[in-house]
Amino acid sequence: MRLTETTDVTITTVVDNYSDLLVGAMPGVERHGPGKGPLLAEHGLSVHIRLGGEGKEILLDAGFTKVALPHNLAQLGIDPTRVDQVVISHGHRDHTAGLAEFLRMAGKRVPVVVHPDAFLERWFILPDGSKMGPWHEKQQEWEEAGADIVYVEEPYELAPGCLATGPIPRRTDFEKGMASAYYRQDGELVQDPINDDQSIVVNIEGKGLVVVAGCAHSGIVNTVRYAQEISGVKKVWAVVGGFHLGDATPEKVGRTIDEMKTIGPRLVMPAHCTGFAATRRFSEDMSREFVLNAVGTRLSF
Ligand SMILES: [Fe+2]
Ligand SMILES: [Fe+2]
Repeated sequence: MRLTETTDVTITTVVDNYSDLLVGAMPGVERHGPGKGPLLAEHGLSVHIRLGGEGKEILLDAGFTKVALPHNLAQLGIDPTRVDQVVISHGHRDHTAGLAEFLRMAGKRVPVVVHPDAFLERWFILPDGSKMGPWHEKQQEWEEAGADIVYVEEPYELAPGCLATGPIPRRTDFEKGMASAYYRQDGELVQDPINDDQSIVVNIEGKGLVVVAGCAHSGIVNTVRYAQEISGVKKVWAVVGGFHLGDATPEKVGRTIDEMKTIGPRLVMPAHCTGFAATRRFSEDMSREFVLNAVGTRLSF
């Protein structure tokens, strides 16, 4: 199967860790500059995808609070009532906390595409042995706020030319997941592979794939390779979103960048959990492709 091509796509960073009024625009990259109302940043992610050719709007993830998402949507002129579907990349709080508020603002039933493991009771065991948690999403609360849950356990067509990946196979030898992640099962904390982790892939006419990652707990290279596999499209135009390299060793960051260069996207915009050190290296080692993310950045394809 080859994923259909689509046209007239915009991807807007609604919530992200980083805000910068002065970061410059460039062709295809619009910024929310000082002439517009201020945006809020927080350690979380929410991305709005508009498929103009299909007349569809999708929200990927919902930030870390109830505050930033509604505020930034209003400032960016994105109308929640027009959003057709929500995709939740995984059940971590920095991607879900604004969901119920968003659904109330949408004022209608909205399909929410999510893997069942997003509803696990999550814990983190930190290097010093201390525990953090629980993070526990409740399906009933989402449904009461307006979600029509769509469980995904394999690739799922959101619209012509656009897929949610569903769970991503872990194939590289250097993307090992999140060592501190656990979930509670039968009273015990067990290592959490974060199998709910998924991304969105769009096939742009005349360009290629745009991969939008939430937190990339499966590994950003695994994610992009799987996007190529399930779409039947080799050419990757852009890779954006959370690459989850904030706690990665320099070696892992180097391997990731080497693989990304082999994949050869024209645009790389690391965000959210990519971390400063890895973002800096992308900016140096892929300087022609690199775009600094900030809330309000809008990419057009
Ligand atoms: Fe996460
Ligand atoms: Fe995250």
